[in-house]
Amino acid sequence: MKNNKLIIQTKTKSYPIYFGNNILEKISVLIKKNLPSVKKVCIISDIKLKKKLLKKLIISLKKYDVKIFKLQSNEKTKSIGVANKIIEKLLKDNFNRSDCVIAFGGGVIGDLSAFISNLTKRGLKFVNIPTTLLAQVDASIGGKTGINTNQGKNLIGTYYQPDFVLSDVSILKSLPEREMVAGYGEILKHSLILDKKFFFWLSKNGKKIINKKNNNVLINAIKKSCKIKSKIIQQDEKEKNLRMILNFGHTFAHGFEGAKNFSKKLNHGEAVLLGMIIASDLSNKKKLLSQRDLLLIKKHYLKLNLVMNIKKIFKKNEINKILYFMKKDKKNVDEKINLILLKKIGKTTDPKKISMKANQIKNFLKLYF
Ligand SMILES: NC(=O)c1ccc[n+]([C@@H]2O[C@H](COP(=O)([O-])OP(=O)(O)OC[C@H]3O[C@@H](n4cnc5c(N)ncnc54)[C@H](O)[C@@H]3O)[C@@H](O)[C@H]2O)c1
Repeated sequence: MKNNKLIIQTKTKSYPIYFGNNILEKISVLIKKNLPSVKKVCIISDIKLKKKLLKKLIISLKKYDVKIFKLQSNEKTKSIGVANKIIEKLLKDNFNRSDCVIAFGGGVIGDLSAFISNLTKRGLKFVNIPTTLLAQVDASIGGKTGINTNQGKNLIGTYYQPDFVLSDVSILKSLPEREMVAGYGEILKHSLILDKKFFFWLSKNGKKIINKKNNNVLINAIKKSCKIKSKIIQQDEKEKNLRMILNFGHTFAHGFEGAKNFSKKLNHGEAVLLGMIIASDLSNKKKLLSQRDLLLIKKHYLKLNLVMNIKKIFKKNEINKILYFMKKDKKNVDEKINLILLKKIGKTTDPKKISMKANQIKNFLKLYF
């Protein structure tokens, strides 16, 4: 697994991500290597995962005292109530700091499990086994934990880095195409904000990634994406400045997801894809991004049939709701809404440089209807 390991270095922790095909059964060896004191393991699993996957994981962990929670993966699960119930059960079972929580699911399970690991006895060991493409390329790296409230998404949370991440593309076999596209959105984002060469590589290989036709291409895309994200978080773990460029497309996306009540009508990745194309358009309108680069991005969306038509998803009278949720974004410091825009493919505007009044954004969004 030597070539398929990436070390993430942050100020608080350094940890490996292991990439590969069919590497799930290596979990026990990896725990022994990275976390030799672990005795108890708590698996927090997505209930929808194929039974044989969870079975494989449990069999691989036969040397440990294993506890399992199976949860529905939706935004309601990322709640303080669910977190509290699991924490109470871990305390009752005497989980210690040397014991370990394993997240076995997508971003929902990952965010919740990291939160639980962080808060229980001020920090249990934490291993993430992301089972969606989005979680493999984005949610499992960077250490953000997240809990939703009635006021919006991820408004409660901490930073807590895992002890290691195991990213196995064989787990993605059962993942529906809609979820593959959602994950692809984050891969594309990483290319747009920091790596033009990667963008052109994706233009050639995007279909193969979404169709899961070639494991090597898929692993390379995931690895490259993790490298780009890690380069950013290594410099700014707690989002004081540089890390904000990862929010490209996300401020709009928060508005879009909120306006659909964080339902499956529009999933996180789709909201991000839509947010990125709108942010690219806005970048061009503000004369930051050339027409040529904008067309290249649009061509990429069209070729892969990515979500780009806001009118197909929203009605004009939903704009106010979109803005309501955009204003709730944690990254806003005053009345204005902060945005990361594109200067060119591979380069964003500097964090905190672009902000717009809600009314200006409203007028811009109205142009689409
Ligand atoms: N912490 C971070 O830095 C970060 C970054 C991005 C997103 N997120 C969070 O991640 C969440 C979105 O993550 P997601 O897109 O992975 O969503 P998710 O966890 O809800 O998974 C999406 C869907 O795929 C299903 N699924 C998962 N693995 C599967 C598999 N192998 N086969 C078949 N079906 C499978 C789930 O049951 C669910 O229906 C959001 O809550 C978002 O806020 C966090």
